[in-house]
This record gives sequence, C-alpha cells and structure tokens, in this order.
Amino acid sequence: MTVHIGSIAPDFTQESTEGTIKFHDWIGNSWAVLFSHPKDFTPVCTTELGMVAKIKPEFEKRNVKVIALSVDDVASHKKWLSDIEQTQNAKMNYPILGDPDRKVSKLYDMIHPEANDTLTVRSVFIIDPNKKVRLTLTYPAATGRNFDEILRVIDSLQLTDKHSVATPANWKDGGDCVILPSITDPKVIADKFPKGHKELRPYLRMTPQPNK
Ligand code: BEZ
Repeated sequence: MTVHIGSIAPDFTQESTEGTIKFHDWIGNSWAVLFSHPKDFTPVCTTELGMVAKIKPEFEKRNVKVIALSVDDVASHKKWLSDIEQTQNAKMNYPILGDPDRKVSKLYDMIHPEANDTLTVRSVFIIDPNKKVRLTLTYPAATGRNFDEILRVIDSLQLTDKHSVATPANWKDGGDCVILPSITDPKVIADKFPKGHKELRPYLRMTPQPNK
C-alpha cells in the first residue's frame, strides 16, 4: 500500500524506547511527525535526533508529537541514546521505534530497494489529528533533513486549514499569503480579508496573514 497525502496513516503497534506504541492511540488529538533513519550509530542520524530533541518545544507549541524510527531494535537504540545526548548536547525526550521486523518500514514504504534493500531512507510523514497524512518527504541517507522546513510546513497546514489562503514560495509564519482562487465574490473577500489584498492577476491575490 502506498501512503499518499490524504491517506489515513497506517496504524501499528510497535516497541519503542518509551515502551509499546499503539500509533493512532499515541497520536490522540495531536498532530504527529513520524521520521525514519537508516540505522543506529550513524553520524547524520545522530545529529538529526539531537536536533529534534532540542527543538521539541517548537513542535509542542504547535500541538505536534514527534516519533523517530530506525530499523535496529530498541536495545540498540537505548545504547545509542547516550551518544546522541553527549555529542549533540541534547536530552532525548521523544520515542524512537525499533523496527527489526521492518513492520512499520514496510507499512510506510520506507525501504527503497534501489537505494538500499535493508535500510530505510529518511522519510517524513506529517499526520493530522484525524490521522490523515498531510505531507510526505523522502531524503537520501547522506542528506540530513532541515527540521525548520518541517515546522514551516506545519505552520502552513495549520493556517490553511483554518483560513481561505494558501502560502506562497518560501513563505514563513507572518508572511503574506495567497487568497484561494476559489474565492471570487468581492463581498466574501472583503469579509474574510479585512486587512485588504493586492490583485497582481485575477488568480494571484496577496493578503496579509489573516491570523496575525
Ligand atoms: C548517517 O546517518 O550518517 C548515514 C546513514 C547511512 C548512510 C550514510 C549516512
């Protein structure tokens, strides 16, 4: 099964460094970021896991839980934790799933055999409180992810769920937004966007971020 934007995130029960995780129950009413790592005791993964621990308050502010996965078992992850903490100056504060049976990796198509037939690629899934997948990203093993970008996407998703806007290229929280092309009635536009808007083209109308 392919996990697409709009799919219900496959549910699973799997062991983690913080005990057994029943995925949908663990998400509860939060958003979630599930991100995979090729292997324990590898350098890029060590930096990524430490980075996410350090910026976890940024995820919490947005009502997002984070959970990592690496194909090794939980006993191995637990040995790795102290390296992550010591080298990245971070206290690990979220679960890492073990996946020695590749159950979760297979469910989420995290193993790309043309890249490597046993290790996971660097996948990211952003999942909303309805358990719907809202973003998928895939990075190769040698490229660490930019977690500021993941926070930026969460800001966009949470904004565009509530307001009739989309976010343009390189948008960051607080930046001007695009009025959805489906909104054409001038009265509706005036009501929804009281701060005004600039019409660059009939389909390209910029407005200040509605909730700022
Ligand atoms: C790493 O995490 O550093 C890594 C893992 C697999 C291949 C290359 C790099």
